[in-house]
Formats: sequence, C-alpha cells, structure tokens
Amino acid sequence: MCEPHVYILLAVQPLKGLILSGGKGTRLRPITHTSAKQLVPVANKPVLFYGIEAMAQAGIEEVGIIIAPETGQEIREAAGDGSKFGIEITYVVQDEPLGLAHAVLTAEPFLGESPFVMYLGDNLLQGGISDLVAAFREHEPDALILLTPVPDPENFGVAELAVPDAATPGEPGRVVRLVEKPEKPATDLALVGVYMFTAGIHEAARAIEPSARGELEITDAIQHLVDGGLRVEPHIVRGWWKDTGRLEDMLEANRLILDNLTERVEGELIDSQVDGRVVIEAGARLERTTVRGPAVIGAGAQLCDCYIGPYTAIGENCSISGAEVEHSILLAGCTVSDLDGRMESSLLGRNVTVRRGDRQPRAYRFMVGDNSDISIL
Ligand code: DAU
Repeated sequence: MCEPHVYILLAVQPLKGLILSGGKGTRLRPITHTSAKQLVPVANKPVLFYGIEAMAQAGIEEVGIIIAPETGQEIREAAGDGSKFGIEITYVVQDEPLGLAHAVLTAEPFLGESPFVMYLGDNLLQGGISDLVAAFREHEPDALILLTPVPDPENFGVAELAVPDAATPGEPGRVVRLVEKPEKPATDLALVGVYMFTAGIHEAARAIEPSARGELEITDAIQHLVDGGLRVEPHIVRGWWKDTGRLEDMLEANRLILDNLTERVEGELIDSQVDGRVVIEAGARLERTTVRGPAVIGAGAQLCDCYIGPYTAIGENCSISGAEVEHSILLAGCTVSDLDGRMESSLLGRNVTVRRGDRQPRAYRFMVGDNSDISIL
C-alpha cells in the first residue's frame, strides 16, 4: 500500500517596503521651499518613483511611504494608490522629521512583524534591489546594509568592518561599528540609503536616544543590533549610487540616468536636428533647434531657435526660444527666452521665467525656486 505523502509548506513572510519621503529638504532650497525634494525630477521622472519602481521590480507588493504634513499631499497626488506601479501604497504621516529610526517607529502599525526593505526617497541606486532582496531571503540576517566608498564620508553614516574572514574570500568582514556623520571618519565606507530589516529593528529603534542633531538615527539602531550580537550583513554596492540631496548630486544623477536613455522621438521636428540618445515626448514641438543627447524633452515643450546640449532634462510644457541649455534640469512650465548665452549646470523650479535684457552673451548658472521671474539686465 502506498504511504500518503505529507507536504509541509513553509510560509515565507512577504517582504514589505518602506520609503522615507518626509523630512525638510533644506539642502535643495529654494527648489524645496515649495515642493518635496523627493519629487524633483531626474531625467523627467521624480526621484521617488525610481525607489517605488525598484520595490515593484523586486516583487514587493505592499509599500508604505512616510510623508511630512507639509509636502505629503503632493506626494499622494504624484504616486497615488500605487496601481500605476503595480503595488499598493499606504501613506504614513510623520508629524515631525525626528529621524530615520523615528520614521520606522511611526510606520510600525503598517509594518507589523514583517521583514521590510527601507529606501530613502531621495536616493537612487543603479540596478535596483532584486539581488539584495534575494540575498536577504537566502542568508536571513537580522539586517542587511549597503556600503560604498565615498570621497566625503563625514556627510554620511560610516561603517567600520572587521578584517575579512579568510574562509570567505571576497566577502566583506563583519560590521564592527557604525557612526552617523562622524567628524573624523574611521573609513570611507558610507551607508547607502537602502536597508533590509527584520521586525527586530523596532525594538532597537525604541532603545536608542536622539543624536546630537536631535534625531533618532537608523545608524544607531543598527549599531544596537550589532551590540546585541545580532547579524548585520554588509554588502558593498558595485554600481553607482546617488543621494540627491544637493544640486551637484541632482545633476550627477540626471547625467547617470540619461546615459542609459533609449532613443525615442514622438514629438514634432521642424527644421530641427536630433543627435544621439534623445527622447522627445509626444506633443513637444521643436523648430530650428538642435538637441545633442543624452537629453529628454518633456511632453508639450515648445523649443524654437535653441541648442540643447548633453545631460539636459527639459520638463513638460517648457517654452524655450533663442537659448542654449546644457547639463541642466528644467522643471515643468519654465520659460527661457533670448538668453544669448549658455545656461549650464542649472536647476530651475516649476514655472520659472528667465529672460535677457541688453547684456553681452555669456554663461549662466542658476538654481531657482518655483514661480520665479528673472530678467537679466
Ligand atoms: O543617503 C544616505 C544617508 O542617508 C546615510 O548615509 C545616513 O546614514 C542616513 O542617516 C541618511 O542621511 P541624510 O542626512 O542624507 O538623511 P536625510 O535627512 O536627507 O533623510 C533621508 C530621507 O529620509 C529623505 O528622503 C527625507 C526622509 N526623512 C528624513 C528624516 C530625518 C524622513 O522621511 N523622516 C525624517 O525624520
């Protein structure tokens, strides 16, 4: 007689996602005076969307987004209920930006006992997070952190690792110490803004005290796990990573994303020329204009007698005439006219107007908040 087969199904707890999109965005002012820094576009797509898409690609279905009372509404409007990304979004309001570990505690009712991926909403990580999620699943550490060497570690959380184990060549040593923005960094290994946690992080976040800058630091909460003998697995990031908190980083992120653009011209070209990797969205109209890629021109943009140089992202419904623009980001609805010089390495907020008076042609560099009106006399 055949023995009945007994199958035991081990239920794997689904991973949730947590994206931190609160905070103040002081370093990107004046742009972030009027809007959330996580919505500033990189290659014409809000930074935040790259994180959401990375979660969706990794198979995460439930994502919580931390929002601030001041900028939360526009984030809700931009990302919606998540259906356009194929996920379900729950918004969690953090009344004050009291730190990344405070954000985790604020999201505890949403996270429950689930393991989760935490993604800082102003970070961009090349190659997504699918491999990291797989490693987290396979090795089952209490936390998994990402590290990368940077030239300015004092601006980040910094990790000290033990000497690598001879038995596992090529693997980084275990985490010994993590310090948030140390004055004298012990190494150049910065904590990247993507972390994987089990529910144990909640207890760690409750156990720590606010730092000198008055925040509950996630770095300290992870150190608490290390001190308690829990397993914190370090991964060294191989591709590029950007924290888009400052203008230079934003322009650099724009450059890196545009470098991988796939050419697509759907707008109208009249006596115009397009070279290299260029996207011209439907409804855009170019007249007597040259675009040298990588560059993206948003839907409804009107360009006349212009030169658009490499690494430029022109937002929707911008109107540009008689101007050269290069290595810049223009948000939706900007008007630039008769510049008679080159605008470069600039970031213009929404609906900014820039026009020239009688000055000699020259190069211009701007970082201008939404709705500004600039006449160069
Ligand atoms: O970018 C990586 C760095 O991110 C790490 O190396 C640091 O260890 C980590 O503390 C963090 O440092 P930052 O100073 O760059 O964090 P920032 O204040 O810019 O906040 C990161 C994101 O989290 C940003 O999208 C705003 C959001 N946030 C921030 C705070 C303080 C919140 O949602 N709530 C908060 O309370």
